[in-house]
Amino acid sequence: MISIIVPTYNERENLEELFKRISDALKDYEYEIIVVDDDSPDKTWEKAQELSKSYPVRVIRRTKEKGLSSAVIRGFKEAEGEIFVVMDADLQHPPEIIPKLLNALEKADIAIASRYVKGGKVENWYWWRKIISKGAIMIGRVALPKIRGIKDPVSGFFALRREVVENVNLNPVGFKILLEILIKGNYSKVVEVPFTFGLRFAGESKLGKKQIFNYLKHLYRLMRWEGEIDRFLKFAIVGTTGIFVNQFFLWLFVEKIFGKGASLDYLIANILATELAILNNFTWNDLWTFKDLRRAPLYKRLFNFHLAALTGAIVQWVIFIILLQFGIHYLIANLIGIGFSFVVRFLVNRHVTWG
Ligand code: GDD
Ligand code: MN
Repeated sequence: MISIIVPTYNERENLEELFKRISDALKDYEYEIIVVDDDSPDKTWEKAQELSKSYPVRVIRRTKEKGLSSAVIRGFKEAEGEIFVVMDADLQHPPEIIPKLLNALEKADIAIASRYVKGGKVENWYWWRKIISKGAIMIGRVALPKIRGIKDPVSGFFALRREVVENVNLNPVGFKILLEILIKGNYSKVVEVPFTFGLRFAGESKLGKKQIFNYLKHLYRLMRWEGEIDRFLKFAIVGTTGIFVNQFFLWLFVEKIFGKGASLDYLIANILATELAILNNFTWNDLWTFKDLRRAPLYKRLFNFHLAALTGAIVQWVIFIILLQFGIHYLIANLIGIGFSFVVRFLVNRHVTWG
């Protein structure tokens, strides 16, 4: 049995077409449709109840709670099927894709109807909407290494096995329930099925611009949950110890070993001190910051850590030079450069060295 969960808010005019197309698409399946409506002013719940005479529909009319994600979570709780499908009511998610998602589930735990795999697309979006959408996904993939391989982790159209979300504590605050599931759910394999995100059949969108900020807040919460923020802080602490190591050895080499005078001595002393700081940072990051992620062999981790340091240094210099052109004071320019270098080094190490 398949449970199709449809969150609704003012979708009255879409329901009949939606149910009709679902029933055509799922002729060979046993299924139920669960409409979770937040007491819509247009009485979507009433229309759904009316249509439940002709289609296998159950209606949940919520009067106290509100919100897209919490509606979907409520749907999970009510669902009786072994497989859950989540989709919008406005027909931007074509019901004809559902059988493809169900087929894909035979070899996976989660099947995502995806706009951004080969064969998928979005109809009638301005280029800037595409850029915002793809940019948002890119930020998510960088912030949350677990979803790095997924092209459309914020799709509102997906299918999953009951076990993926059963007994999982999903937080209903963000709009992107799939993202929440991909981070917290119990699963091993995800597949993406291409589809075309079309136009609304009737009514208008409820998700506005305030969503962007909300999305970033959601990402931050999931990063904390994943321990990625802790990692970032540990990386910062280790980096600070590196500054002291660097300064100490520079002093030691110049004062006690090479003697003062020739500028070449300073350069060599500086290179050696920098290398020792890099080794110091590597050691602590390997034993502490990323201790759970030691997968690549040691020599590779060491090599990539140096690569990250070099990348960071180049970023630092480039930003320094650019900011100088804008007339920014060189000490401030350097500080900003260091900030960027720091983030870049963290990301390269997180995704490559300990990726
Ligand atoms: N119960 C309930 N409560 N349902 C809601 C609420 C709410 O507060 N807000 C929206 N919905 C329902 C709508 O009625 C619709 O069925 C579905 O959720 C999606 O809302 P839309 O307003 O149509 O969203 P969208 O088209 O802008 O965004 C869709 O695409 C995004 C990807 O670009 C959604 O599927 C998003 O989840 C998805 O990320
Ligand atoms: Mn929509």
